[in-house]
Amino acid sequence: MAGPRGRPLIVGSGIAGLYVALRSQELGLRPTLVTKASLEESNTRYAQGGIAAAVGPDDAVGLHLKDTVRAGDGLVNAKAARILVEEAPRRIADLVRFGVPFDTLEGQVALGREAAHSRARILHAGGDATGLRIEETLRERVVAAGIEVRERAALRRIAPRPEGGWRAELALDGAADPTLLDASELVLATGGAGNLYRETSNPAVAMGEGVAVAARAGVLLADMEFVQFHPTVFHREGAPRFLITEALRGEGAHLRNERGEPFMTRYHPLGDLAPRDVVTRAIRSEMERTRQPSVFLDATHLSRDRLASRFPTVFRFLADYALDPSRDLIPVAPAAHFTIGGIATDTEGRSSRTGLLACGEVAATGVHGANRLGSNSLLEGLVFGEHVARQLLHPVRGGPAPPGAVVAVPPPHGAGGAVPAGAPSEIRSILWEEVGIVRNAAGLQRALRRLASILDAIEPADGGPAPAPGADAAFTAYLIARAALAREESRGAHYRSDFPRPRPAWRLHLGLRVGGAEERPTRAAAPAREVKALGASAVPWT
Ligand code: SIN
Repeated sequence: MAGPRGRPLIVGSGIAGLYVALRSQELGLRPTLVTKASLEESNTRYAQGGIAAAVGPDDAVGLHLKDTVRAGDGLVNAKAARILVEEAPRRIADLVRFGVPFDTLEGQVALGREAAHSRARILHAGGDATGLRIEETLRERVVAAGIEVRERAALRRIAPRPEGGWRAELALDGAADPTLLDASELVLATGGAGNLYRETSNPAVAMGEGVAVAARAGVLLADMEFVQFHPTVFHREGAPRFLITEALRGEGAHLRNERGEPFMTRYHPLGDLAPRDVVTRAIRSEMERTRQPSVFLDATHLSRDRLASRFPTVFRFLADYALDPSRDLIPVAPAAHFTIGGIATDTEGRSSRTGLLACGEVAATGVHGANRLGSNSLLEGLVFGEHVARQLLHPVRGGPAPPGAVVAVPPPHGAGGAVPAGAPSEIRSILWEEVGIVRNAAGLQRALRRLASILDAIEPADGGPAPAPGADAAFTAYLIARAALAREESRGAHYRSDFPRPRPAWRLHLGLRVGGAEERPTRAAAPAREVKALGASAVPWT
């Protein structure tokens, strides 16, 4: 393929990738969709909470906007958030048109409540199987539409073509040599990086490779320090971590510590429905105070029938561990959940490089600010996916506004060795222990040194072959730690024990660009040397 007009390549098969594929084909283009695993595997499939839209009789887009902005702790890109909430009802209508079976109550769409939402505005499908229902429906549509799909094709490297468009280098399962695909435009919808953390609600595929691949191509990243932790993930020795949806607290479940005491009102006036970052840190401090590995979610006052019908996925999972939420307390602890940062884009999905677009969790539009409001993530994939599809039809030059500060990271290059057997689990421990819910400079510098030594061993030399897949994980982890060290304040999901308050000078988006000259990722330099903080007055996105 020589990259003719109208032949975009979409990477990733979560809600954003599937939706862009479908819509761009409806608009008359001929997309190809590639995914590193099977078509159905992505974070979308595991999303329990639902999808937010101001469609209830007592709701208004202005209220959804207000809640989104408040959760984002001073960093929400107001233009992106307005687009998100205003276009939400239309995108939900698209999902209905594609056949997503949203739950209804007495003939009306059923709406649930979640933390930090001032109204019941969460649509769900199959109770807590919303992501699964959406993913199944869109996937079936993609297949029925005859869209060209390549499964088990991992993105290894990207480069712009001199004659226009982009070239993607893919590693196909079982093939010794890479496959090269040329495209008119490249859309990265590769999802988040939650599985770089030892404790996570995410599936194994969420490794953040899209960020590393884009960063190596010199694409601007933003907000990488903002990793959202979900407060309530099932926590039992030997059991898989499993999301226990926030919607359970929306239905009235309470958190209790191991002494049986409800504790959330001691931390926030909204109690169990406080913003996610507040609940996460409250749980962490209760666990530390009581020296326990978890706290408990108490839904025992709710009816068994209601719990089984509204939360069938959670109910079935707990049954495997002989737990019945109408009788038993559920052991929960926080875990990495959502990557707020990623490839810096504008609201049309345009990155800093012409023809390279991104949407969904891998993109950083600034729509979530420093802390995402629950059930805005599936919505983000749809709303900005639609903008990307239109951009593919009528490409117009543009890109993200420059962030208020930029950290320059020179391209990593090392000995090009194989990924050491222990590296993946070491990376996950490093991030969890040093770049987790509570961070500080000493821990972040330790993390950077350890990640740099992994990168030193496995990154190929300049101009060599594409790095091994494990190198992407290490590099994305490095970039998260690097941004977290640079942001010397606490805001939203980013909490620094050495800078425990928000600072006005940091009310800005932090960019990260690979290809600068000051620092090699083999050394962790003090951030003040290369962060050019321009001050709050120069913040373009707030
Ligand atoms: C949840 O169901 O609690 C998670 C929903 C989300 O992350 O938006």
